Amino acid sequence: MFGRAANAYAELRKRTDFVPEIAIVLGSGLGGAVDLEEECSIGYDELGLPGSTVHGHRGRMVFGTLCGKKVVVLQGRLHYYEGHSSETAALPDRVAALAGAKTVVLTNAAGGIAPDLECGDIMAIRDHICLAPNPLIGPNDDRMGPRFPDMTAPYDPELIELAKTAARKCGFELKEGVYIQFTGPSFETAAEVRMAGIMGADAVGMSTAIETIALRHMGVKVLGLSFISNKACGLAGKPLSHEDVNRESERVVAKMRGLLAAIVGDMQ
Ligand code: HPA
Repeated sequence: MFGRAANAYAELRKRTDFVPEIAIVLGSGLGGAVDLEEECSIGYDELGLPGSTVHGHRGRMVFGTLCGKKVVVLQGRLHYYEGHSSETAALPDRVAALAGAKTVVLTNAAGGIAPDLECGDIMAIRDHICLAPNPLIGPNDDRMGPRFPDMTAPYDPELIELAKTAARKCGFELKEGVYIQFTGPSFETAAEVRMAGIMGADAVGMSTAIETIALRHMGVKVLGLSFISNKACGLAGKPLSHEDVNRESERVVAKMRGLLAAIVGDMQ
């Protein structure tokens, strides 16, 4: 594992000496959610990382400045449901961390389970339930992190507070809740959504938990932001589609852009 991430990092350093403080991972349809003063961009393929196959995900790292901070934006993530292992899905996050990012903001589109989550809301992830395979399965590389990382507060409580304050400045209330990751790619059944609600989940998606685990393994601080693109299956009264998810994302991309800028501006 260290080999693959380290090789990608070595390729990165052949192309740029940019050291980001913060990484932002953009989820489905949120590709335009950061107004970066761009310095350079590098495709995942140039780093020996697999490209993304999902519409709405581009597969590149963009380096630049946002609100005076040095940032790398990961446009396009690798998903378990594309056939990547969980370990591979977390590789771009690991490369961003090796490049210097001490804080990573993970964004995603998610289905709302909690009754108070409406389409267009943004929810700070307080905790997660990961139903996809753990990305740390396999031999541990102690240079990357410990064998048994603690998961008491996978999403940094101070960053959640900072994000809530930033949202208020932007004129809206940031919701907070538990994210559950299913493997996808089929959307959940209504029965699975009911189960997830009973288990304590507020929103459901197909990406973020495995990336958080890999980043916490490396000691990186994580902030997770779920944009509620739809009510989860069985709660909306209509079938779900990826096109609807992307359409809703594009509708509120400006809200996410404002929030991300406010958060990054307020970070120490
Ligand atoms: N389920 C899983 N992933 C999602 C959803 C959903 O309802 N909406 C956006 N991503």
